[in-house]
Amino acid sequence: MTESRVEDGTVGHSTTMTVVAPAEFRSLMSTFPTGVAIVTTSDLDGQPWGMTCSSVSSVAVDPPTLLVCLREGSPTLAAMLRRSTFAVNLLHARAGATADLFASGTPHRFDLVRWSADPEAAGPHLTDDAHAIADCRVSRTVSVGDHTVVFGEVFRVAHPAAPDRSPLLYGMRKYASWSVL
Ligand SMILES: Cc1cc2nc3c(=O)[nH]c(=O)nc-3n(C[C@H](O)[C@H](O)[C@H](O)COP(=O)(O)O)c2cc1C
Repeated sequence: MTESRVEDGTVGHSTTMTVVAPAEFRSLMSTFPTGVAIVTTSDLDGQPWGMTCSSVSSVAVDPPTLLVCLREGSPTLAAMLRRSTFAVNLLHARAGATADLFASGTPHRFDLVRWSADPEAAGPHLTDDAHAIADCRVSRTVSVGDHTVVFGEVFRVAHPAAPDRSPLLYGMRKYASWSVL
């Protein structure tokens, strides 16, 4: 275990403690497979933003709330906080290339996929790559280390006519598709 120090201000005094190294934490979490989403939003001038995100979790049923964790410094996060809405595009099993595109930092990522910009939606809908899309309103944010946790209340769910209804999975640093034991 690597020793690093964190300052814990949550109890009103400073405590030093050890934490595992980033590589060990990443390796641990790689053994916990998840689905894959692309979270999207748009700027007030209509410019689309979006990034691949696997840290998506259900939080509450009433009100229907999910969370996404986005890296500090992300232009997608900045636009999401300005707009206060975002769409969670849940990818289907044939959308691995689009997941890579939206993780690549490519500035013109939206030129390379089919998307729709319904004014009622919370962000761009990736109509070829998502099997389901949740339109969310930002309800709160929490800054944790190098990421921001964004909570969203889901106000609409859409189901595009996807070529594959099974979800794309990510684990062990690879994409996979759902299979029942
Ligand atoms: C499968 C996969 C899952 C990812 N999940 C997250 C995530 O949950 N949060 C995050 O901040 N970045 C995640 N990333 C990395 C971002 O997609 C990547 O940093 C992207 O360039 C960010 O876009 P941006 O420049 O608009 O912020 C993931 C990448 C991949 C390939």
